[in-house]
Amino acid sequence: MKFPQFSMLPFLMVVVMLSLSGTTLSHPHWDFLHCLSLRLANYSTISKVIYMQNNPSYSSVLNASIHNTRFSTPATPKPFAIITPLKTSHVRSTLYCSKKHGFQLRIRSGGHDVEGLSYVSEVPFVILDLLNFRAIKVDTKNEVAWVQSGATLGELYYAIAAKTNTLAFPAGMCHTVGAGGHFSGGGYGTLFRKYGLAADNIIDARMIDVNGRILDRKSMGEDVFWAIRGGGGNTFGIVLAWKIKLVPVPAVVTVFTVNKNLEQNATKIFHRWQYIAHKLPDDLFMNVWITKVNSSQVGMKTVQATFRGMLLGGVDELITLIQDKFPELGLAEENCNEMSWIESVLYFGGLPLQSVDILLDKNALPTLSLKAKSDYVKEPIPESGIEGLMSMFLEEEADNAVAMIPAFGGKMDDIPENELPYPHRAGNLFEATYIVQWTKEENAESRKYISWNRRLYSYMTPYVSKSPREAYVNYRDLDLGINNNDYTSYEQASIWGFKYFKNNFKRLVQVKTKVDPMNFFRNEQSIPPLLSPWKKKGN
Ligand code: FDA
Repeated sequence: MKFPQFSMLPFLMVVVMLSLSGTTLSHPHWDFLHCLSLRLANYSTISKVIYMQNNPSYSSVLNASIHNTRFSTPATPKPFAIITPLKTSHVRSTLYCSKKHGFQLRIRSGGHDVEGLSYVSEVPFVILDLLNFRAIKVDTKNEVAWVQSGATLGELYYAIAAKTNTLAFPAGMCHTVGAGGHFSGGGYGTLFRKYGLAADNIIDARMIDVNGRILDRKSMGEDVFWAIRGGGGNTFGIVLAWKIKLVPVPAVVTVFTVNKNLEQNATKIFHRWQYIAHKLPDDLFMNVWITKVNSSQVGMKTVQATFRGMLLGGVDELITLIQDKFPELGLAEENCNEMSWIESVLYFGGLPLQSVDILLDKNALPTLSLKAKSDYVKEPIPESGIEGLMSMFLEEEADNAVAMIPAFGGKMDDIPENELPYPHRAGNLFEATYIVQWTKEENAESRKYISWNRRLYSYMTPYVSKSPREAYVNYRDLDLGINNNDYTSYEQASIWGFKYFKNNFKRLVQVKTKVDPMNFFRNEQSIPPLLSPWKKKGN
């Protein structure tokens, strides 16, 4: 173990910590705290970095980055402590003490993990919350930026736009998503047909490995650098920061929205869209959202397909393009709006366009309970298949459900499947993410919503990718399979691993075996080493 020696702090410090917690602690908890308090410099640091369950701020720190209230119930397992490091040495100390005293570590950046894996575990655990690692340095001259993992996408976009209106970054659409988890799983948004995933535009990183070494791209080596750009979080190490390549955008882009419900031929228009959207120029992003809405007939519901998109260009060019390639949409000038790229971030994030400052507000949108599942589609779905999909949205459980369907193609077709762990490239017409939401108060009825989502997924089986049925790791779905708590096998992990990563799963396992053979960094869907420690011991 190559950690630096810290000067021993008075034992009193630990006693203070324990009296702060107000709890009687078992040995491992006590030992962990003792270990950590010895390594942190002073009382004031300890009080800013360690949150025990009896600390009055524990719940607010825990809940501040919970973005799925399905995992915010009294029954949800809670961390024994939340550690919010102020500097790198605090991260290393947390890692060291968690390892030494047998606590699982859950790394949290934005806290958007759809299955709550960054803040829930069935075994005793500690959250390493990177909420103080949010610095962003934008260098417009070299068109790069360093972004710390705890920064949100909103903070990143804001920092870029504060310096220039002709550079951007191709990442996701929800402004409260964290860089740490998002980049670790790929990450796509309105610029991905032009520039690929967020992960495709990462050029360096700063990571702490399981032995506490601080590594950059050169010292971690190309295999590890490959794995952390899409192989899923909490697996290869703690990524502190990422160096990203900024991409050019015009000063004016054009966004549009066209709504078509069942009475307005939504089924036929969506059917046609499947043949066209992936072939459109890569300057154009287009997304279809399917939701239940009020019908024009009082008291009745219908299903709406919302066609929303963005062209890296002006309104005239957009209208000419769509009238030529996709006249069925009936796009008109009143559906379109010219704006800056940063305003388009607000538009796609469902935020008011008045002030970009809202991008810094993590609570700008309500937090709900949700379950997500994802698919990739390679052949157009027949009209009869779309009719069935639409009719499922008329069911009672789908009041707050959406199928989000972004067209693929463009740059995504040009990047080989094995370039990064994210393998879903050429040949995909679109991805479909099915999300069902409900309020925290309805958590007792979550089963009915989740089962609707599972029925929808099952209904889609004939129309989506097969062998494997591919899925997007950033829309994590534990229905696809999980690792055991104590050990995990390659075979077991393969069930979900090939769905997320296709053949790249094998290389991810090799990298994991090399960098973390004892499988310290783990969760229900982390990549396992080839021979799990359990098997090595011959148990
Ligand atoms: P969180 O902190 O929960 O981390 C996710 C995973 O990464 C966890 O396993 C965690 O332990 C690990 N991790 C986090 N930080 C790490 C670090 N520094 N080092 C190592 N491991 C780390 N996706 C997309 O591509 N485009 C989109 O537009 C959206 N939009 C969207 C909206 C909403 C409302 C949700 C809930 C989700 C999305 N996503 C998305 C999916 C999103 O990209 C995915 O959930 C990310 O993993 C979230 O990253 P966070 O850092 O926020 O989560």
